[in-house]
Amino acid sequence: MDELLIPVCSSVEIVDSGKGRRFPVSVHGSDASGFVVRYAGIVYGYLNRCAHVPIALDWEEGQFFESSGLYLMCATHGAVYAPTTGKCEGGPCTGARLRKISVCEQDGQIYWSPDDYVRPALA
Ligand code: FES
Repeated sequence: MDELLIPVCSSVEIVDSGKGRRFPVSVHGSDASGFVVRYAGIVYGYLNRCAHVPIALDWEEGQFFESSGLYLMCATHGAVYAPTTGKCEGGPCTGARLRKISVCEQDGQIYWSPDDYVRPALA
């Protein structure tokens, strides 16, 4: 079966180390969000859930990078994550990882793909 591709936004909206974009998902029947960011030209997707306490990373919607643009940062206690791997490189959950979500770009559009854990939004 072909992989399901769900549109997030257009590619030009997500610039290197700039604002990311949330998208609705469900996990075990509960509403949650995923997000996409771009780093060094490549789009990465993760579940918007800190590895320290399971809450959203961005205090201001779409604000995932810290000021240097090198790391994703959780707004609550400042855990920093490598954008390429989702691995926590510093903070209260060092060594833990964000949950990756499969994303791709096609024809100027960014898409995400559900898996066994991160499912399409319920509503
Ligand atoms: S909730 Fe993210 S660092 Fe504590």
